[in-house]
Amino acid sequence: MNQNALRRIAINFSSIIIAILSVVTAVAQAADPATMRQYQMVKADSGEGYVAVIKEAPVPTPAANEVLVRIKAVSLNRKDIYAIEGSRGTGKATPGLSISDGAGDVAAIGSAVTRFKVGDRVVGGFDREWVDGKHAGYKPREGLLSEYALITEQTLAHMPDSMSYEDAATLPCAGVTAWTSYFVEDDVKAGDFVLLEGTGGVSIFGLQLAAAIGAKPIITSSSDAKLAKAKALGAIATINYRNTPDWTAAVREATGGVGVVNVLEVGGKDTLPMAIKSLKTGGHIALIGGLSEGGFERSTPEDLLKPFNARLTHIYTGSRTDLENLVTFVTEHKIEPVIDRVFPFEEAMAAYDYLESERFFGKIVIKVAE
Ligand SMILES: NC(=O)c1ccc[n+]([C@@H]2O[C@H](COP(=O)([O-])OP(=O)(O)OC[C@H]3O[C@@H](n4cnc5c(N)ncnc54)[C@H](OP(=O)(O)O)[C@@H]3O)[C@@H](O)[C@H]2O)c1
Repeated sequence: MNQNALRRIAINFSSIIIAILSVVTAVAQAADPATMRQYQMVKADSGEGYVAVIKEAPVPTPAANEVLVRIKAVSLNRKDIYAIEGSRGTGKATPGLSISDGAGDVAAIGSAVTRFKVGDRVVGGFDREWVDGKHAGYKPREGLLSEYALITEQTLAHMPDSMSYEDAATLPCAGVTAWTSYFVEDDVKAGDFVLLEGTGGVSIFGLQLAAAIGAKPIITSSSDAKLAKAKALGAIATINYRNTPDWTAAVREATGGVGVVNVLEVGGKDTLPMAIKSLKTGGHIALIGGLSEGGFERSTPEDLLKPFNARLTHIYTGSRTDLENLVTFVTEHKIEPVIDRVFPFEEAMAAYDYLESERFFGKIVIKVAE
């Protein structure tokens, strides 16, 4: 063999080695690391209370019925404020804090998992066990403010390629709550008047879902600028509850005196009596939250409901099936969840502050990874 032939063989051999090395490097880069970043509560330096910080933690291994999800985005809900406020005093919080709503990719599956494979795009259900039917007691899981998280297979839902992780992350609590209030606990139809209180996560989903089926949403807010945005999303009437603290007459007027068939009641003690008086005969109060000064109203005011022959149901988000039905509905109706702002993972605490400020409209998202 001459020198040139030997040189050619050497060049080809080194090209093959370089190619193999680059494949090995790419695989190593794509492989999941052994540790991850995760928000946890730790004792504050001052010694007073606890603070949420990013810690390095081992990437967990899924049990038989669990899926390890590489979290891409999470969304905040009002309950996350209550949870972190409590944790600041006690230090008690699950790793990843209390955050229930998130979306990402399947990184690994437990030995008994059949509905998912590695690489699937998924969105986490609110509860640890609730698959279908009526709620049977909340089973929380670890929080999702973490680069990886374990979610039980039975409460995880698939999400379509057309949906962004940010959009999917807004659905499990706020979106599903509006969904069950209209279509599981009620039968809201095109032409029906419905009432939304304020422009937070649940109410803006309520507005979008109602507009999508041709119902007629009426909405209240403390801000005219937010009401203008609500109008652009399909509200047929808007009421500023700062200027009109008792809005019953204004709502009834907007319905031509008929009243609304459904109220997503998020205000609580202060708003519930007005909500009932805004109903059409036979209407439905979906009792959801307690944002007003008076807090949550847990009793059922039969004396107020009776004259309207009205019904009140206690809403508790929804099951995995409700989440799947919502994912399908949002996709078919091309609904874009309203995301006010996306915060980077490192600025998650600023996202909590922004939620508390009530300056936002719709949902607040934290991007965990690209
Ligand atoms: N039962 C369940 O399954 C369930 C599920 C989800 C949420 N919730 C509860 O439902 C409530 C709403 O949740 P969310 O996530 O939609 O909250 P959110 O996004 O934090 O909503 C905040 C917005 O609510 C409005 N608001 C505040 N006080 C109000 C009042 N007195 N009357 C009317 N609107 C008022 C404000 O809108 P403006 O700035 O426009 O005035 C504020 O920006 C919370 O109490 C939450 O804990 C319950």
